[in-house]
Amino acid sequence: MKHLISPLDLSVSELTDILNLAEDIIRDPGKYSDCCHGKKLATLFYEPSTRTRLSFEAAMLNLGGSVLGFSSADSSSAAKGETVADTIRVISGYADICAIRHPKEGAPLVASMYSEIPVINAGDGGHNHPTQTLADLLTIKILKGRLDHLTIGLCGDLKFGRTVHSLINAMVRYPGVSFVLISPEELRIPTYLREGVLKKNQIPFREVHTLEEVLPELDILYMTRVQKERFFNEEDYIRLKDTYILDSKKMALAGKDMLVLHPLPRVNEIASEVDSDPRAVYFKQAKFAVYVRMALILTMLGIKADES
Ligand code: CP
Repeated sequence: MKHLISPLDLSVSELTDILNLAEDIIRDPGKYSDCCHGKKLATLFYEPSTRTRLSFEAAMLNLGGSVLGFSSADSSSAAKGETVADTIRVISGYADICAIRHPKEGAPLVASMYSEIPVINAGDGGHNHPTQTLADLLTIKILKGRLDHLTIGLCGDLKFGRTVHSLINAMVRYPGVSFVLISPEELRIPTYLREGVLKKNQIPFREVHTLEEVLPELDILYMTRVQKERFFNEEDYIRLKDTYILDSKKMALAGKDMLVLHPLPRVNEIASEVDSDPRAVYFKQAKFAVYVRMALILTMLGIKADES
């Protein structure tokens, strides 16, 4: 049994297989519509979610399986003090696979140590969000045609943004990838990523404070929300939340093929006028997430379409 806790739990070859499978599902969804008949996915969400939980559930339903779970800690026995370790021991008897989101970094890893079923990290605090990365990679692969030789701008809350952390870890394994890190000083990427991933792997990157100065050179602009729920001090959040607002005027500085991704939800960081720009692909990205999560569930359960 294998768990998915960090993006590095998947080799590049395994990642490629999952992305290829997702593309086959997009081409021929009917082939997969009964693959998970009799299988159950548990979604254990201790923190709010729209896309991740519902796209996991849609993915399992599209595969002919069933779903169960809870959408907040308050509606589970966590509110009575039950530990993640005890909860996953119990859920192992109810479901075949589970996706867990938790505000504490490392909680899905702890769950995996006590689980008898595959555990998927659906976001742990400000740490990792490996299945969002799968959705990001599928979006880039389909719409850009490649995952290598890209200049990727990451903009916003690079300190607390777990989607950014997972995307960097995944993308440094592709040749010719470089990063432009656009953030206020207070929200720069954590040292463990700058030193332990980017510098250690000799990945070209630079850190800047304004979007305008780098937009013309980007292949991908990955916008992020300032993560209000991770701030200790509301004053700091209010001061930083609108540092970057992508609007049509700024989009005019970007190349005609640059793609704008965002894991969503967005707050103010992308003006709604950008939504109609063909380079804005964040709603497509949210839809691709269903297909890649279908591919992930099939892979982790060891189910092939022609065996169903
Ligand atoms: N992208 C993402 O994780 O969205 P949710 O928080 O709505 O799941």
